[in-house]
Amino acid sequence: MCPIQILLFEDRKIPDKYREDVQALLEGVFDYDEDSIKFEPEAHTKIIAVDSDDKVVGHLAAYVREVEFENFSSSLGMIGDVATVTQFQRRGIAKKMIESAHVLFRKVGIKHSILFAYNTGVYKSSGYKTMANEVHFLDQDGNWKTFVYRGSMFCELSDHTWPKGLINLKGLAV
Ligand SMILES: CC(C)(COP(=O)(O)OP(=O)(O)OC[C@H]1O[C@@H](n2cnc3c(N)ncnc32)[C@H](O)[C@@H]1OP(=O)(O)O)[C@@H](O)C(=O)NCCC(=O)NCCS
Repeated sequence: MCPIQILLFEDRKIPDKYREDVQALLEGVFDYDEDSIKFEPEAHTKIIAVDSDDKVVGHLAAYVREVEFENFSSSLGMIGDVATVTQFQRRGIAKKMIESAHVLFRKVGIKHSILFAYNTGVYKSSGYKTMANEVHFLDQDGNWKTFVYRGSMFCELSDHTWPKGLINLKGLAV
């Protein structure tokens, strides 16, 4: 039996006992530099994985955002900051956290989820496919940009086909 537990916290409200571990994990894998972070994305659900000693071994941020496709608006699930502590990698923890985000998205009627991957191979078995859509988004430098984002992926969470064409994210690409 895998002793890993998946916990969800709304509105970024991670309990104090996990906060330092989460920060250390994110700084370790993403090379975070407080000074380089200009814009914080909106409130979102933090999903963390903890081991049997209640130590944080994984993190994922799940966002719900109202975005614009070419002919309509829709709520979109967005997944970011996926990280697993090195010694716990390749045990299905990222996959479990993604599944948990999908459950959350489906509960609120979201039909599609997207993410921007460094390594697209990680997400294929969770149902993600390469996205060919142009994306209009706010970059960390404060400028709006439009292009086909390398590593962008979508997942159909229902029987609704993923739309073609431009997506206006109306905010940061997380
Ligand atoms: C990428 C990362 C989050 C994967 O976490 P993990 O808990 O080890 O992932 P899982 O064990 O759930 O594996 C999920 C899938 O990804 C694959 N995978 C995991 N790490 C991989 C890697 N480095 N290269 C290629 N595939 C990988 C697994 O084989 C699995 O595929 P499968 O379901 O088809 O068998 C973790 O390696 C990490 O934190 N890396 C540093 C941070 C990072 O790069 N995060 C963003 C990635 S876009």
